Amino acid sequence: MKKRTVLLASLGALVLFSLVMVDCRSAPPQELAEPVDLPEPQKEGTMSVEEAISKRRSVRRFADRELSIEQVSQLAWAAQGITDPQRGFRAAPSAGATYPLELYLVKSDGTYHYIPAEHRLMRLYSEDVRGPLADAALGQAAVREAALNVVIAAVFERTRARYGSRADVYVYTEAGHVAENLHLQAVALGLGSVPIGAFRKAAVAEALGLPQDHEPIYIISIGYPR
Ligand SMILES: Cc1cc2nc3c(=O)[nH]c(=O)nc-3n(C[C@H](O)[C@H](O)[C@H](O)COP(=O)(O)O)c2cc1C
Repeated sequence: MKKRTVLLASLGALVLFSLVMVDCRSAPPQELAEPVDLPEPQKEGTMSVEEAISKRRSVRRFADRELSIEQVSQLAWAAQGITDPQRGFRAAPSAGATYPLELYLVKSDGTYHYIPAEHRLMRLYSEDVRGPLADAALGQAAVREAALNVVIAAVFERTRARYGSRADVYVYTEAGHVAENLHLQAVALGLGSVPIGAFRKAAVAEALGLPQDHEPIYIISIGYPR
């Protein structure tokens, strides 16, 4: 009888421990995060969209050179910036304007969460997690070397609430719109980029400490071509 009680207690403790461990995989609370204001994005550039399209090529080796805050601002804006403040519409289209995507910017000086409504970043922590992120992306050097990895995470429920079973395709399609904006903006800034689809989702989520419902679905690695 005693043995059974001990066994049950141990089992209970194990279940509790696993629940706590599962719960631990969440980003630091936003109120602990450090806000970083971004400069106003430029609405006019020196390269035409046709030129950017014709010059875009996947770049997989990057120089050891940081991006400026202006470049980071421009890229975040091109991906998810608010372009219609009245209605809150963004640079990339979204099915039913449900906006299921969240951007995480992984740099040498930490990981940041982009807040479109304020065009600002929240610095979640200062560790360089590009190494673990590259490991999660099957060891791809581009991820390790990129000055900036934009991890596109999806909160599927936002779109499923409106579109049910059709939603998942919509969310992935939207990520493609965001990605192409990033690629073309990178070219226009004199940078290179590569889309990364080969990664283990759970390992990416763990490397970044993403909240449970923020599922990483795409990574865009960006930097100065080597
Ligand atoms: C959904 C998707 C996933 C991709 N995943 C990877 C990847 O994990 N690693 C990589 O080096 N390239 C990846 N690529 C880039 C393709 O290899 C590349 O686009 C293709 O070779 C054509 O070259 P281009 O981009 O220079 O036109 C991916 C492209 C797409 C569209």
